[in-house]
Amino acid sequence: MEKQRLSVESGIADYIDWLAQFGASADGGVTRLLYTKEWMDAQLAVKAEMSAFGLDARFDDVGNVFGRLQGTQSPDEVILAGSHIDTVINGGKYDGSYGVLAAMLALKQLKETYGAPKKTLEAVSLCEEEGSRFPMTYWGSGNMMGALSLKHAEVPRDGSGVSLQEAMHDNGFGRGVYPSAHRTDINAFIEIHIEQGQTLEMSGRDLGVVTSIVGQRRYLITLEGECNHAGTTSMKWRKDPLAASSRMIHELLLRAEEQPDELRLTCGKMTVEPNVANVIPGRVQFSIDIRHQNQRVLEHFYEEMTAVINGICGEKGIRAMIDEYMRIEPVPMDETLSAKALETAAENGISCEEMVSGAGHDAQMIGRSCPACMLFVPSRGGISHSPKEFTSARQLEIGVRTLANLLYKLAY
Ligand code: GLV
Ligand code: MN
Ligand code: MN
Repeated sequence: MEKQRLSVESGIADYIDWLAQFGASADGGVTRLLYTKEWMDAQLAVKAEMSAFGLDARFDDVGNVFGRLQGTQSPDEVILAGSHIDTVINGGKYDGSYGVLAAMLALKQLKETYGAPKKTLEAVSLCEEEGSRFPMTYWGSGNMMGALSLKHAEVPRDGSGVSLQEAMHDNGFGRGVYPSAHRTDINAFIEIHIEQGQTLEMSGRDLGVVTSIVGQRRYLITLEGECNHAGTTSMKWRKDPLAASSRMIHELLLRAEEQPDELRLTCGKMTVEPNVANVIPGRVQFSIDIRHQNQRVLEHFYEEMTAVINGICGEKGIRAMIDEYMRIEPVPMDETLSAKALETAAENGISCEEMVSGAGHDAQMIGRSCPACMLFVPSRGGISHSPKEFTSARQLEIGVRTLANLLYKLAY
């Protein structure tokens, strides 16, 4: 299918629709998983567009794309803005994409209006943040900050058994053709993103400035019982891992509700083997995602979760394995940058409030070792990770303008 073209008058909402064509699903959603054809086509298109904007565009060795506006006085001090290009399965058009496109458009406007900055400005389209294809998250920002490296690509495999390393190599990355992803010259990172919650919509404000991002842990729980006949096996003697997992999930959800300050728990993924109606399953695997702004609450909940799982398995003679495949601690955003963001909004008469992010973001990985700040624009109905994601063109534009004004303050 011929891709929709952009014109010189295209605004951020047009760019969102343009990028959403890469990996579009019939119901208006987008699936762009790391190192798939849709993903590669999108990164190539973003890179070409960065060049068309007059930015110096390049890949790094994991497939992050950067567009650079070289500083005239302190070229080695880089102020980076952007987000991720990958999506969840059948996600929305705005998550990640908005931050990438907003950064590109902000740099284009700044270049056209003021010429070269004093400090270097870069826009980035990070290759992966969601963890939707491989049991691995923040592959782009993690490699950029040196928290992850190419050796971490050897083990994770997708649902078809393809390793992260194979998928990366198939796209020409991870072989030293491009410069290493690891950067030590980033002085500040700004990520603009849709809120993915309803706080801004409820308050009627146009912009959020994030004070901190919750900690997250993700687990893959494997239960091994005994495959057997659905009609001849007494209910008493079954070692049914699907029945056990439903008890576990129910119990964990109840306990999550009892935790202070809204711990969030999600079981979003499950596989059942052999997945046949008249066979008691032999093996079940499911994910648990837990989030909270206090690390001690997460730690305590993990212990409760282990006790619940082992308790039910012990009763039923089922074997359990709990594998933690993702852990990121709660991260505060940089106070100085956030204060500048609030000041920028106030100077431009934009209604704004401070808030905590319950979603994970690249700013969390980057913010562990580099000053980072995040701006949020409203999400209609608070809906995200869904084809129903929506933010109005006016709200998207306010975000881009604020980002450009903030980058101007920092780099010109
Ligand atoms: C990332 O989108 C997350 O799951 O928070
Ligand atoms: Mn997301
Ligand atoms: Mn995101």
